[in-house]
Amino acid sequence: MLLEKVTIQYNDPVQSGYVLMALYVPDMTGVVRPGQFVHLRIPNRPDLVLRRPFSIYRADENGVLSVLYKKVGEGTRGMATLKAGTTMDVMGPLGNGYPDVAVHKTPVLVAGGYGVAALYLVAKRSPKKGILIAGGRTADDMLCLDEFASLGWDVRVTTDDGSMGTKGFVTQVLDGVLQEYGDKAELFACGPEGMLKAVSERGMQWGATAWISLDHHMACGVGACLACVQKINYDGQEKLARVCKDGPVFECRTIVWE
Ligand SMILES: Cc1cc2nc3c(=O)[nH]c(=O)nc-3n(C[C@H](O)[C@H](O)[C@H](O)COP(=O)(O)OP(=O)(O)OC[C@H]3O[C@@H](n4cnc5c(N)ncnc54)[C@H](O)[C@@H]3O)c2cc1C
Ligand code: FES
Repeated sequence: MLLEKVTIQYNDPVQSGYVLMALYVPDMTGVVRPGQFVHLRIPNRPDLVLRRPFSIYRADENGVLSVLYKKVGEGTRGMATLKAGTTMDVMGPLGNGYPDVAVHKTPVLVAGGYGVAALYLVAKRSPKKGILIAGGRTADDMLCLDEFASLGWDVRVTTDDGSMGTKGFVTQVLDGVLQEYGDKAELFACGPEGMLKAVSERGMQWGATAWISLDHHMACGVGACLACVQKINYDGQEKLARVCKDGPVFECRTIVWE
């Protein structure tokens, strides 16, 4: 884990309240694993004491690391005002991300909203092409799909209002995929909790491995404060895991949903 002051390369609005921020952080890009995150301190805002966690969207060979974030509160709105050239305090890469894609399975990525950001590196590093099922409320919520398509992945979209792709939830499309692949599918999911729970249920129902990235509120981000705990079933015994350090990715069979 590294703690560095780095320079913002760009911080540009994308669409519907999302912003793409690129940081020059060559010491981190070489060691990032898919599903890991960075913990960012918002500069010039002493009132925002806590760092904010963001999935690492891209970690490019030229040393540029990107995050794709949505403006939801004080921290992210403050972040969106930062200009290129500003120095930012970055801690990372943090957490246990997704494991390598199993070679004998078909990888199926399931993303809700900014969940696509956590899954892009899975697709990029996977030795085989798979399926991305991305869901959002409307077409405006669909992000960076071209990036997955240009890697050769089969991109399937669902929107709640039918403005793009299939009308409905990602689970409708996932059900069809699981009928075809069954336990030969390996699921990788990131998104809102309701979606993650539904993906977990399907993973167990079909006997498919499902890697779930949990999104909990965090404080320290390194396992010291216990702000982010999640009940996990290890070998039949319920224990509290720290999402920031033991996760954020857990296999669906270990998560105790409450
Ligand atoms: C491992 C991890 C990876 C993440 N990756 C991304 C990412 O790639 N892109 C992105 O846009 N966001 C991501 N998030 C969520 C992001 O950290 C929060 O949106 C951010 O901390 C909100 O900060 P804020 O000060 O703007 O909002 P606050 O003022 O703190 O909160 C505003 C609203 O957002 C809600 N909120 C805050 N944090 C979270 C959270 N972790 N989960 C759900 N709701 C929350 C609050 O309850 C409140 O309603 C990730 C979170 C985790 C734990
Ligand atoms: S955020 Fe402190 S232990 Fe996870």
